[in-house]
Amino acid sequence: MFKSSTQVVPQAPAVPRHLAIIMDGNGRWATERHLPRVAGHSKGVDAVRRSVETCARLGVEYLTLFAFSSENWRRPAEEVSVLMRLFVTALEREVRQLHANDIRLKVVGDLSPFEPRLQELIQASELKTANNKRLTLTVAANYGGRWDLLQATQRMLREHPEIVHQVGPLTEEQLAPYLVMSYAPEPDLFIRTGGEQRISNFLLWQLAYTELYFTDQYWPDFDQQSIETAIDSYRQRERRFGRTSAQVLPNTKAASALG
Ligand code: IPE
Ligand code: IPE
Ligand code: MG
Repeated sequence: MFKSSTQVVPQAPAVPRHLAIIMDGNGRWATERHLPRVAGHSKGVDAVRRSVETCARLGVEYLTLFAFSSENWRRPAEEVSVLMRLFVTALEREVRQLHANDIRLKVVGDLSPFEPRLQELIQASELKTANNKRLTLTVAANYGGRWDLLQATQRMLREHPEIVHQVGPLTEEQLAPYLVMSYAPEPDLFIRTGGEQRISNFLLWQLAYTELYFTDQYWPDFDQQSIETAIDSYRQRERRFGRTSAQVLPNTKAASALG
C-alpha cells in the first residue's frame, strides 16, 4: 500500500501550530481609496506586524506569510521595485523588535535574484534571530510551490545520486527533508485574504491536509479579530486525514481539545 506521511493522524490542537497566510488585496484596498497600489503594500506591512503579535500571543508556533511569489515578477517594474524597497525597510525597522520578542525569522524562496543588500539583510536577520523560540515567522519571498518541489528533487539527487538505482519507490520521507520549510510541521490552517479562492503556487506539497479559510477582507484591514474569527472556524472543522468521522472522533476535532 502507498505509504503517506499523513497516515498517522496528527494531533489537531485548538490553536493551529502552523498558520500559513496568502496576504492578498493590497492593490484593491488602495485603488478603492483612489491611492496608488503601493500605498496598499505599505499598509500591508502594518497588518504583518499585527498578525505576528496576535499569533505570538495566541501561541501559534509557526506563522508563514506569502510576501512575493515567483510569478509576481510579471508585475510592472515600478511596483516590483517598491515591493523590494519595502522589504528592505521592513527588515531594517522590524528585526530588532522581532528579536526582543523572541521571534525567529526565516525567509524562504529563491533569493538569488534579489539585490545583494537585501540578501545580506536577510542573512543577518536570520542569523540574529536564529535561536529564538517563541514563534517562527517565515516570509516566503520569490517562492513558488513548484520551484520548491523541483529544487528539493534536484538537491536530493545531488546529495544521493544512488537513489536513482534504489530498489523500491521513492518515499515522501526521502524527499520532504529537502523542501525549504522542512523545519516546520505542515500548516494546520491556511488563510487567504482578498476574496480569491486559489492557492497561487504557494505551499503545494505542505497544504495537502491543511484546513483552508478564505475571506473577502483585504490584507491591510486584516486584524486581531480577523485571525481569531479564522481560528474559530478552524476549531469547527473535523480533520479526518482520509478516515471516517467515527474513526477520528473525538481526537481530531480541534474544538474538542478545548474540553
Ligand atoms: C498582495 O496584494 C501583495 C502581493 C502580491 C505582493 P496584491 O498586490 O496582489 O493586491 P490585489 O490582489 O491586486 O488587490
Ligand atoms: C499571491 O497573490 C501571492 C502573494 C500574496 C505574495 P497574487 O495576487 O499574486 O495572486 P494571483 O495572481 O491573484 O493568483
Ligand atoms: Mg493579488
